[in-house]
Amino acid sequence: MTVDLGAVQETLLIPLYGRADLTRQGSALIDDPKAAEMVEAIDYDFARFDGTPSLFGCVLRTRIYDHWISRWLREHPAGTVVEIGAGLNTRFERLDNGRVHWIDLDLPDAMELRRRFFVETDRRRLLAGSVLDGEWLDVVASSPGPWFFAAAAVLIYLPEADVRRTLGRVARRFPGSPIAFDTWGSWMLERGGDLRLVESCTFPTAPSAVLDLVADEIRELMIAFADDPRVQEYRQNLFESVRR
Ligand SMILES: C[S@@+](CC[C@H](N)C(=O)[O-])C[C@H]1O[C@@H](n2cnc3c(N)ncnc32)[C@H](O)[C@@H]1O
Repeated sequence: MTVDLGAVQETLLIPLYGRADLTRQGSALIDDPKAAEMVEAIDYDFARFDGTPSLFGCVLRTRIYDHWISRWLREHPAGTVVEIGAGLNTRFERLDNGRVHWIDLDLPDAMELRRRFFVETDRRRLLAGSVLDGEWLDVVASSPGPWFFAAAAVLIYLPEADVRRTLGRVARRFPGSPIAFDTWGSWMLERGGDLRLVESCTFPTAPSAVLDLVADEIRELMIAFADDPRVQEYRQNLFESVRR
């Protein structure tokens, strides 16, 4: 199967390949046979990503979000998880508890690809659209609360002003909701306003439940580079929208 994706949308193939590759290696961090199947089915030169550290980083990032969302689901098993810029991720497959509601949002071409591998059910919606448009917020509001919003490697591609406006909109409409997303640099972390920072980590300071799954030699390498500015600047963050 060939793919015809915009340049930003094409980045979804990197975390997909990362999950497939680590699964093939037998890593304790992830077991994602569906990612391996999708890589097999898609006609694309995935080998161009071989050897890039971002493959491992994508998987670690995804597991940090899994950790936050599964912790939240223990308290809100029938709430709604909203995956913004879902790409071809398989988080629902990993975390489905039989009761959760789930909404995957992505740009039309990426969602068309996603629809070839995933089906909608009464608990899982696949929505085509831009996070910046805001129409998806009505669909979210019609799904049972509370809500958890996740945007892994999505907002970093968008202009800062758009991101601020969008997050403000989400926060005001769904006060008290957790919102997880990654940041480069500190501009987002320093902002007050609609969001309160609850938890934040770099890869070497990820939650121990996640780091414990990383092979010793890789964990040692991560610790060795922990002070590198590039490692320090890229953070995974869990915010909560402020109740007014
Ligand atoms: C690097 S991929 C990450 C995919 C997924 N979150 C993951 O971790 O596997 C970036 C994703 O963001 C999506 N994206 C980019 N801009 C978007 C927008 N304005 N609205 C919705 N999704 C967007 C892309 O189509 C792509 O699927």
